[in-house]
Amino acid sequence: MTQDEMKRNAARAALAFIPANTIVGVGTGSTVNHFIDALGEIKAQIAGAVSSSEQSTARLKALGIPVLDLNTVERFSVYIDGADEINPQRHMIKGGGAALTREKIVAAVAETFICIVDNSKQVDVLGKFPLPVEVIPMAAAYVSRELAKLGGRPVVRENVITDNGNLIIDVHDLQITDPLATEQQINGIVGVVTNGIFAHRCADIVLVGTAEGTQTLK
Ligand code: A5P
Repeated sequence: MTQDEMKRNAARAALAFIPANTIVGVGTGSTVNHFIDALGEIKAQIAGAVSSSEQSTARLKALGIPVLDLNTVERFSVYIDGADEINPQRHMIKGGGAALTREKIVAAVAETFICIVDNSKQVDVLGKFPLPVEVIPMAAAYVSRELAKLGGRPVVRENVITDNGNLIIDVHDLQITDPLATEQQINGIVGVVTNGIFAHRCADIVLVGTAEGTQTLK
């Protein structure tokens, strides 16, 4: 079975966690694209979606799924999203698709975060995947110097502007042994909008696609 088939199986398994008539929070990425396609099949049973990116919004709308403004929604039950890395504590690195800030906002409003991944995303220690950090453009050089002081190697992602009009710095060579502390520390640098560590808002349920089937971790 290919990694993409494992992603698709994990994405389809998430349908079992969607209550009837609910608003569904939708993340971003290739795994979520499989989920959106599956959601299209049950669109009559949901109240609509809130989206974490222009890319997902376009895919949802193309399937006829209404996309609601998050500011009109006080709380909703489930948020479904992928991850670039996930550890046994269900802390994640996200933002490979540059949508980390909106993903973190939508996840904050959801009661339950369901992470859908193939098994290549499982790690013991976060950090082999370069950590994405969204920054205000005029702060990019300053933030890069501050990130280097943490021991990482910051590289501004080329030709990428986020949906919020900002830049992404990818921080290579970080060993993130305390994700809660590192998430907070990087968010404390002036000019940082968000970093891609999702530890304070970690996943509640993880659906892992493997060659032997999809595993559920809680
Ligand atoms: C988007 O910014 C990311 O947070 C994605 O959730 C993450 O990169 C996973 O993407 P794939 O599902 O494409 O691997």
